[in-house]
Amino acid sequence: MKSLTALLLGLVLSTSAYAQQNQQPHHEMAYESGCESCHDQGMDRFPSDQACLQCHDVDDLAEQTAREGEDAKQNPHDSMHYGKEAPCQDCHGEHSPKKALCQECHNFNYPKFND
Ligand code: HEC
Ligand code: HEC
Ligand code: HEC
Ligand code: HEC
Repeated sequence: MKSLTALLLGLVLSTSAYAQQNQQPHHEMAYESGCESCHDQGMDRFPSDQACLQCHDVDDLAEQTAREGEDAKQNPHDSMHYGKEAPCQDCHGEHSPKKALCQECHNFNYPKFND
């Protein structure tokens, strides 16, 4: 029993050490306010989009990544298939890198994409 507790404690410590080492530098202040500033659904679940939207705004994002003319619907934040509805975590990772969902099927140029 004692060794099981030690083992579980070890796992908890190593997952948080993992998250501690893999932090996006632009989110430094989110970590300063505690892991819960993103992990609004508890530490055993991924954050909800609501957590991201405390600091980010979908309409602003759609403007920041807007494109002209024929390319307009390649905007990841206001796209041909999903409009503004795609969940952030389909494309953005925090502790491990991700690829934008669109690139599973397309090869768009997203110069500002940073995991
Ligand atoms: C406590 C506020 C806060 C929360 C919560 C937060 N962010 Fe951020 N995020 C920022 C700030 C500030 C920046 C840097 C300025 C910017 O790019 O808007 C940033 C930058 C980013 C960037 C751009 C990185 C780059 O290289 O330009 C992405 C992508 C991002 N956040 C996604 C997310 C996602 C997904 C979530 C939810 C899991 C989230 N953020 C939650 C404040 C926050
Ligand atoms: C800026 C938002 C943000 C902050 C702050 C944050 N996380 Fe996360 N966390 C995420 C996202 C998004 C995921 C979903 C998987 C991924 O993108 O890495 C996640 C996933 C995890 C996972 C599951 C890992 C997996 O791949 O199964 C653990 C464990 C975790 N976070 C721990 C922490 C700890 C510990 C802290 C505080 C030191 C923390 N997180 C702070 C956004 C955040
Ligand atoms: C599962 C595969 C898949 C994913 C993921 C996907 N698409 Fe598509 N997309 C397609 C297919 C198939 C077509 C062509 C069918 C059509 O035109 O209706 C298409 C057509 C398009 C077009 C019009 C044609 C072009 O190439 O310019 C745009 C723009 C587009 N997708 C944007 C996006 C964006 C932005 C994302 C991410 C938010 C995305 N797609 C994700 C499969 C996908
Ligand atoms: C379908 C994939 C996808 C989804 C969903 C998505 N993003 Fe993005 N995001 C991207 C891509 C791709 C870029 C880079 C676009 C470019 O280079 O024009 C980006 C860029 C950003 C940036 C940097 C903008 C800049 O001007 O540098 C931030 C911040 C961001 N996303 C936050 C978010 C947040 C928060 C959500 C959820 C509300 C979200 N994203 C949903 C794919 C996505």
